[in-house]
Amino acid sequence: ASNSRVTSEPLYTVDSPNVVYTDSTIQTKYTYRTTSVTKSANGHYVASPEEKVYDFKVDRDVGRVGMMLVGWGGNNGSTVTAGIIANRRGLLWDTREGKQAANYYGSVVMASTMRLGIDSATGNEVNLPIHDMLPMVHPNDLVIGGWDINSMPLDKAMDRAQVLEPTLKELVRAEMALMKPLPSIYYPDFIAANQEDRADNVLDGARACSAHVEKIRQDIRDFKTKHELNKVIVLWTANTERFADIIPGVNDTAYNLLKTIKAGHEEVSPSTVFSVACILENTPFINGSPQNTFVPGVIELAEQRGAFIGGDDFKSGQTKMKSALVDFLINAGIKLTSIASYNHLGNNDGKNLSSQKQFRSKEISKSNVVDDMVASNEVLYKKGEHPDHTVVIKYMPAVGDNKRALDEYYAEIFMGGHQTISMFNVCEDSLLASPLIIDLVVVAELMTRISWRAHVDGAADKDYKGFHSVLSVLSYMLKAPLTPPGTPVVNSLAKQRAALTNILRACVGLSPESDMTLEHKLF
Ligand code: NAI
Repeated sequence: ASNSRVTSEPLYTVDSPNVVYTDSTIQTKYTYRTTSVTKSANGHYVASPEEKVYDFKVDRDVGRVGMMLVGWGGNNGSTVTAGIIANRRGLLWDTREGKQAANYYGSVVMASTMRLGIDSATGNEVNLPIHDMLPMVHPNDLVIGGWDINSMPLDKAMDRAQVLEPTLKELVRAEMALMKPLPSIYYPDFIAANQEDRADNVLDGARACSAHVEKIRQDIRDFKTKHELNKVIVLWTANTERFADIIPGVNDTAYNLLKTIKAGHEEVSPSTVFSVACILENTPFINGSPQNTFVPGVIELAEQRGAFIGGDDFKSGQTKMKSALVDFLINAGIKLTSIASYNHLGNNDGKNLSSQKQFRSKEISKSNVVDDMVASNEVLYKKGEHPDHTVVIKYMPAVGDNKRALDEYYAEIFMGGHQTISMFNVCEDSLLASPLIIDLVVVAELMTRISWRAHVDGAADKDYKGFHSVLSVLSYMLKAPLTPPGTPVVNSLAKQRAALTNILRACVGLSPESDMTLEHKLF
């Protein structure tokens, strides 16, 4: 008895000549409306409405889905696993504040709603959980497995993490004790030297090599067979690695990267090896850490194979606030002039980030998150002008997983005045990241079942195809969203959420939510 609906029966259907339900699919003819703008030599703009017609097809059969985590024995890996088990079993446990029930709070898919429409009888909004908009895997149904360079079974790993209440841990302990991470790839140069004592569960071989790619592929296949799964989603929640150098001839193209892996080159990271193995297995791979796993060769390989990749770096605490707050300030016409972001944390992630090269990966990922919002407002910012932005991270063992994020936002207001916003944000790190892992897996799985074709001159293309290999629709959950080469990055939290929910609406032939509510204004 879980607190969430586990059913494939839809909560609603769409009544429209453009939407057809069959036993196996939902098919939609959808008109996508945009505005194309041209600028003349004298600076005058002309805006022209444009329309493009697409067919979308959603495969309704979710099938049996596995989630394999790289870094399974870490704080996030053990917390999300215990959380899913607790939800699956509908657990209740004692805390000093009373009984606590399992929930999916913090998951945008499971715990937030979107407007379906207006109730024709009452005129009130009808809102549904995002999870009910299209057939999606329920997190309670995910079969969980994964790898870790540390051999600790998940019950001990959850103790080490110091995240969950003892009463909850006792309820899931027996099940967690049976979960043991598969040996993983360890190239010491990529993570901090202070992680070395964890590495007791590693594959033979000192360098990226074909044997490692093949072993990971075999692990995925074995996991599928053992649990009779239709598909697996792999997600990197292992330590932050240093950036890999992009070297022409080594990792710049798919061909070179595969050649390099055969040769066992030292500039290929473990996360890149995992991503290549997943692409070759046609298994979606998501990177929850900041490093540049997706070197150009990986992106090209994914495109060639039509496999899905998504990243980078979970957006859980400080950056999530930032992408909401900066969006608000700039859209309010307030000129943000500096952001000072300071963190201290005491978990193993913090320990790893206390090493300079790994910190640098995080610093890069945390730094570019306001660029698009700044660039969108030429009233406040001249071309190329940016607010000052500093990011500091310190390791403070005593605070454990309860990261402190202190931020100062300094802004210029009317007539030379200033607004200073100071924020103290205690982010229970793994409890914020775990629901994001769930969202990333649920949405990535959904994307494997959506296909589209365009209409040209009134006729539909012959074949349906999938979305682009780089799943930028996952941006809401990620700090440094990866987008298809040559396409813009959107960091604004509100836009990222609207992209996700409006794509879900498009798949059932509903127009984007405009928030105009003319029905309440024109009568
Ligand atoms: P953690 O240090 O507790 O867990 C990482 C696990 O990965 C460890 O168990 C370690 O043994 C394992 N590992 C290291 N290299 C590996 C490899 N090559 N293969 C397999 N396992 C490997 O860290 P935590 O707190 O779980 O965070 C995981 C990652 O998520 C970090 O990179 C962190 O920066 C990132 N992240 C976390 C956020 C959060 O917790 N709120 C937010 C954003 C990103």
